[in-house]
Amino acid sequence: MANTKSIHGEWSSRFAYILAATGSAVGLGNIWKFPYITGENGGGAFVLVYLACVVAIGIPIMIAETMMGRRGRQSPINTLATLSTEANANSNWHFLGWMGVIAGMLILSYYSVIAGWANAYVFKAIFGGFSADALEVKASFDEFIASPVKLVFWHTVFMIATMSVVMRGVKSGLEKAVQLLMPTLLFLLLLLVAYAMTTGEAYFKGLSFLFSPDFSEIDGDAVLTAMGHAFFTLGLGMGAIMVYGSYLPSGVSIAKTSLYIAGADTVVALLAGIAIFPLVFANGLEPGSGPGLIFQTLPIAFGNMTGGWLFGILFFVLLVFAALTSSISLIEPVVAWLVENKGYTRVKASIVSGTATWALGVSVALSFNVWSDFTIFGKTIFNFLDYLTANLMLPIGGFCIAVFAAWIMHEKHVKEELGLPEQQYAIWKFLASYVAPASVFLVFLHVVGVF
Ligand code: PFF
Repeated sequence: MANTKSIHGEWSSRFAYILAATGSAVGLGNIWKFPYITGENGGGAFVLVYLACVVAIGIPIMIAETMMGRRGRQSPINTLATLSTEANANSNWHFLGWMGVIAGMLILSYYSVIAGWANAYVFKAIFGGFSADALEVKASFDEFIASPVKLVFWHTVFMIATMSVVMRGVKSGLEKAVQLLMPTLLFLLLLLVAYAMTTGEAYFKGLSFLFSPDFSEIDGDAVLTAMGHAFFTLGLGMGAIMVYGSYLPSGVSIAKTSLYIAGADTVVALLAGIAIFPLVFANGLEPGSGPGLIFQTLPIAFGNMTGGWLFGILFFVLLVFAALTSSISLIEPVVAWLVENKGYTRVKASIVSGTATWALGVSVALSFNVWSDFTIFGKTIFNFLDYLTANLMLPIGGFCIAVFAAWIMHEKHVKEELGLPEQQYAIWKFLASYVAPASVFLVFLHVVGVF
């Protein structure tokens, strides 16, 4: 019989879980990363591939990963150990948990640096206000990321914030924060979309960039990036949603909640795109200008609109919070493991794992300025870590999760956790057994040039 409760506590309700898991999914990935990688990869066709990956790969794997978490009720490493014993499978499956823990810390190391940018922009908004001039906005961003001291400082602030929330545990703080923040963030995004509509022709150019696919614009690497982003934005493939699932009360429908979460995540990303690309075109900016894209566009909108001072502050505050509700899920797997296996208190576990992640993050912060010439496989430290985690580790993790859930676990146990009507179960089973793993595999084969 599976455990019925985690030693770390439980979400107080289904709604609390949905909010927390949506908090994990919605973050910098939607508002910062989605627009800039869409810009770098030519727009519409990339968006379409990304959406297809969310539906065919992301949602079935989200259901699989959450289901495994709730069945195992522990950190991903121990959950996989327990589930493989239950399924009479090889105990090496727990290494999948390890890969997830490492991926989470690697992602957080750069995630925290970018969240630090958003944090710095809160203060820029408060004290300077934003200029309405595109060139000035860009110059101010360039000057900011050229400063190692500023980047390390804001990265440090964000890591401390992450550790302080994680220390407090599953319920307090986390649940409450998300309930208020998510709806407000949505409101502000809608406001930005409304502003984007005032750009006239550029608005339609932006929409057409996002939604009219031109497949000549994408190659194998773009497909890999789109697939990797589906994992990244939904927070899949590394145990984050597995560990959140382990705090999920029995009886809550995993399939239904997964659909809500994936739906909300996608809507936020698309709204961010609709808000940003019109500004890019209205101001003669380059869609492919990279990780600085939102920091070079959104301030222009705030600089121009009435009430922009206040909205600018609010927006960046919310972006920091959206990042925070994701960052805590990135570090939760390792914290839960340290508590379970090393007997650490949550406080000690948060400090130890947070400090290690912070140290790596310092090298990421420097890779934007003083170490920008230092490369690994031709990529800066930031680009390398991003590629390694989002494009490789998460899809590999997700592939293994789908295989484990669909092929290794006893079907009786899976059915017990999912509690789905036969027909819906069959759809999930088909997607998780064949479509999701095969798609990941084919994309990899394509990237290494097999076809
Ligand atoms: N989904 C988050 C975002 O889009 O910002 C980032 C993330 C969270 C990635 C949790 C991976 C993860 F496990």
